[in-house]
Amino acid sequence: MARVTVIPALLILSFFQHKTLFSTVLASAQEDINDALRLHNVLWTTKNDSRVILSWNNNLTKEEIKKYTVKYVLIYKFFNTTKERKERLQEKEKIIHLKLHSGFNAKVKTQLFAKETENIIKESDWTEFTYKAPPVYIQNLSCIIYNISFFNCTWHIKAEAPEDIQIFTSYRHVGKIFACQQYIKNTRKKNIGCHMKEIYFQPSRKINLNITVRNLRNSSRGLSYYEAFTPQRIEKLNPPINVSVSLENRSIKIHWKPPPTIGSTKKKCFLYQVKITDHKIVNVTAENYTYPFHKPAKKCAVQVRVKKEICIANKIWSEWSEPVFIHNEKTVDILLLSLGLLCPLVFLGGLLIYACRRFRCLEVITTPVPRPSDSIKTWLADETHHQKHMSIQMEMHSEMTLGTTEENRDENIQLHV
Ligand SMILES: *[C@@H]1O[C@H](CO)[C@@H](O)[C@H](O)[C@H]1NC(C)=O
Ligand SMILES: *[C@@H]1O[C@H](CO)[C@@H](O)[C@H](O)[C@H]1NC(C)=O
Ligand SMILES: *[C@@H]1O[C@H](CO)[C@@H](O)[C@H](O)[C@H]1NC(C)=O
Ligand SMILES: *[C@@H]1O[C@H](CO)[C@@H](O)[C@H](O)[C@H]1NC(C)=O
Ligand SMILES: *[C@@H]1O[C@H](CO)[C@@H](O)[C@H](O)[C@H]1NC(C)=O
Ligand SMILES: *[C@@H]1O[C@H](CO)[C@@H](O)[C@H](O)[C@H]1NC(C)=O
Ligand SMILES: *[C@@H]1O[C@H](CO)[C@@H](O)[C@H](O)[C@H]1NC(C)=O
Ligand SMILES: *[C@@H]1O[C@H](CO)[C@@H](O)[C@H](O)[C@H]1NC(C)=O
Ligand SMILES: *[C@@H]1O[C@H](CO)[C@@H](O)[C@H](O)[C@H]1NC(C)=O
Ligand SMILES: *[C@@H]1O[C@H](CO)[C@@H](O)[C@H](O)[C@H]1NC(C)=O
Ligand SMILES: *[C@@H]1O[C@H](CO)[C@@H](O)[C@H](O)[C@H]1NC(C)=O
Ligand SMILES: *[C@@H]1O[C@H](CO)[C@@H](O)[C@H](O)[C@H]1NC(C)=O
Repeated sequence: MARVTVIPALLILSFFQHKTLFSTVLASAQEDINDALRLHNVLWTTKNDSRVILSWNNNLTKEEIKKYTVKYVLIYKFFNTTKERKERLQEKEKIIHLKLHSGFNAKVKTQLFAKETENIIKESDWTEFTYKAPPVYIQNLSCIIYNISFFNCTWHIKAEAPEDIQIFTSYRHVGKIFACQQYIKNTRKKNIGCHMKEIYFQPSRKINLNITVRNLRNSSRGLSYYEAFTPQRIEKLNPPINVSVSLENRSIKIHWKPPPTIGSTKKKCFLYQVKITDHKIVNVTAENYTYPFHKPAKKCAVQVRVKKEICIANKIWSEWSEPVFIHNEKTVDILLLSLGLLCPLVFLGGLLIYACRRFRCLEVITTPVPRPSDSIKTWLADETHHQKHMSIQMEMHSEMTLGTTEENRDENIQLHV
């Protein structure tokens, strides 16, 4: 036992020794690396329509530039967001797309690396910079492409927006500029969306949306915001087509076809979800799904939806397809049909019997023939026959469904064994 405790103690001791050694090495290296007084960056920005170009310089000597590899670390964060973006760059500028942000905080530092070993030699302190853009009056912008050639964008107007503004939108796609065809308005007659149709999209070329907020009181140019979308990433597909259900080998097979799309039509691009009443939604990559036929206690509906997944990141599911009903559809149909046929027949029969009875009564009075007419007799026979036939059919059908369930149960039991 004693040995066991001594060894860890020794280990801990040596670890501490190592650690102090290590940190002293680090500290001296830090002094060398951090040459904050000598290395220095100056930051500035230039605005270019939708973009802000953040630039910086260094004050390295010519020898330093020759001798070392120079890199810059850039960290920036848009106002009112939490995500920090960090990049190591060799160039002295960064194009920042403001989109719907009203500015950003950035900081840059210079790092010098030994050319051969890639070891860090010197680094500067951070230089910070704040870019303030004009106010942004809209938020929650979202756009979708649907039904191949339709395009909708919607946005919210922030509460702090001035009263007398109106919002206009246009977009550039494959070098052409298109104005909004039809604005969607709120109750205060402000444009809060745009609906467009009969548009041809190049699935992988950007849509550059330009949203301009104008003050209606004065004729200033207004504030323009820009956001870019890749068409195939914002496509909401139509539901899968030709959804059908068939009974095969004591299981239910569901088939469908992919809807049309602006992007790739390769089978592997589509991800489907199958929803069957009271069952978990399942993900399917094929164009069919076999539903293990357990106990189809009641009528259940099958629906399928689709989105692109593998070829392109797209978060938007299609609507669910129209429900297709499985189990007992046919039974129900036949039952309804039989009832529909049977009721009038019974009614007619009753009527006839009643009529003939009355008729016979009259006959009894007029002529002394005590037999019902042959034709009526045959008809009655026919009718009972028909009724029998119908009930046999129905029995057969219910037997059939019962049979399948039973067999299926057997199968399940076998599987569990
Ligand atoms: C770089 O700038 C700093 C701070 O302004 C200055 O102290 C240093 O001498 C400059 N270095 C060179 C090489 O100009
Ligand atoms: C903005 O960027 C475009 C494309 O890079 C360039 O052609 C144009 O000269 C720039 N405009 C300004 C004002 O910098
Ligand atoms: C967003 O950030 C800016 C600058 O940090 C601040 O002035 C403004 O109040 C913030 N807005 C909201 C809605 O938090
Ligand atoms: C709209 O955007 C704001 C901030 O960008 C967010 O807090 C809010 O939940 C969004 N509202 C909706 C309805 O998406
Ligand atoms: C989808 O597009 C087709 C052809 O452009 C059109 O006939 C149909 O009405 C559209 N459906 C919807 C729901 O807009
Ligand atoms: C697109 O906008 C139009 C017009 O407001 C609306 O009728 C339609 O339902 C919208 N479509 C989608 C998929 O949001
Ligand atoms: C965006 O639209 C506004 C208003 O139509 C226009 O003044 C501005 O030049 C457009 N911006 C670009 C980059 O086309
Ligand atoms: C137009 O109105 C806006 C907002 O009220 C104001 O900021 C801007 O200075 C005005 N421009 C002119 C040219 O009057
Ligand atoms: C879908 O069904 C219709 C009618 O049954 C048929 O004309 C069409 O070819 C089918 N589409 C596909 C993709 O199988
Ligand atoms: C049914 O299953 C049998 C054996 O498992 C197989 O040989 C047959 O091809 C299947 N039939 C269908 C229509 O799937
Ligand atoms: C189905 O696919 C979606 C989208 O990729 C995923 O979020 C979900 O977790 C999957 N569900 C199952 C049960 O695998
Ligand atoms: C079901 O889909 C798979 C994968 O796409 C395919 O190999 C198989 O032939 C399909 N089965 C039927 C019956 O269509």
